[in-house]
Amino acid sequence: MLLHIPNVLTAEQVAECRRQLDAADWIDGRVTAGHQSAKAKDNAQLPEDSPVARQLGQMIVAVLERNPLFAAGALPLKIFPPLFNRYAGGQSFGNHVDNAIRQVRGSQGEPTQQWVRTDLSATLFLTGPDEYDGGELMIDDTYGSHSVKLPAGDLVLYPSTSLHRVQPVTRGARVASFFWIQSMVRDDGQRTLLFDLDLAIQHLGADAAGHPALVQLTGVYHNLLRRWADAS
Ligand code: NI
Repeated sequence: MLLHIPNVLTAEQVAECRRQLDAADWIDGRVTAGHQSAKAKDNAQLPEDSPVARQLGQMIVAVLERNPLFAAGALPLKIFPPLFNRYAGGQSFGNHVDNAIRQVRGSQGEPTQQWVRTDLSATLFLTGPDEYDGGELMIDDTYGSHSVKLPAGDLVLYPSTSLHRVQPVTRGARVASFFWIQSMVRDDGQRTLLFDLDLAIQHLGADAAGHPALVQLTGVYHNLLRRWADAS
C-alpha cells in the first residue's frame, strides 16, 4: 500500500527544518547506500551522527507518534532515526530496493546493537513542488509505476520491498527526510487489510454510533491484529 499522509509537519516546522538544514554540513549520500545501490545513488546527505539530523529526526519521530493516520497505516514497532537528503543540479537516485536491515548508529556514529527491519519506507518532503523541477519519487508495484511529489510537510509511506527511484532534479533543490519503519505487522497485505478495516470501523463509528455490530467488527480487528502482530 502506498499511503499519503498530509500535514505531518506544520509550515513553521518545515521552515525550522529548512533553516537548520541550510546551515548544516552535507556529505556524499553514498555513505548509507548498500553496495549495489551506491552505484545508482547521486545526492547529498547529512551524516547519521550529525547533531542537526539527530535533533530534527527526534522532532519528526515525536510528531509521527501522535499522528493517527501514521499509526493506523504503519502499525509501527520501531522507527529508524530519520535521515536527510538533498538533490540538485541533475542529481538522481536510480532504480533500487532499500536494504532489508538497518543498524542504528549511536551519537558518535558508532554501531549499536539496535537493528530495524525495513518493512516500510518513508519520505517526508521538506521542499514544495514549485521549488524544483523533476525529483519525483517513482514507486513500482503490481499496478505499475507511481509518481510521488508532495507538498512540503507531507509524507509518503510505501512497502520497502518496492523497486523505486528519484528522477533527476533539473532546477532548484529537493530536500527531504527519509527513514524506515519496522511494523508490528510484517506483511504488507495483512497490514493493508487491517488499515482498511480500521478506516471502515471509524466511518461506521461516525455514521452509525452505538450500532452493536461496531463492537463485533472492532473485536475482529483486534483479533486479526493479535494473530498477525509481533509487539517485540
Ligand atoms: Ni530507497
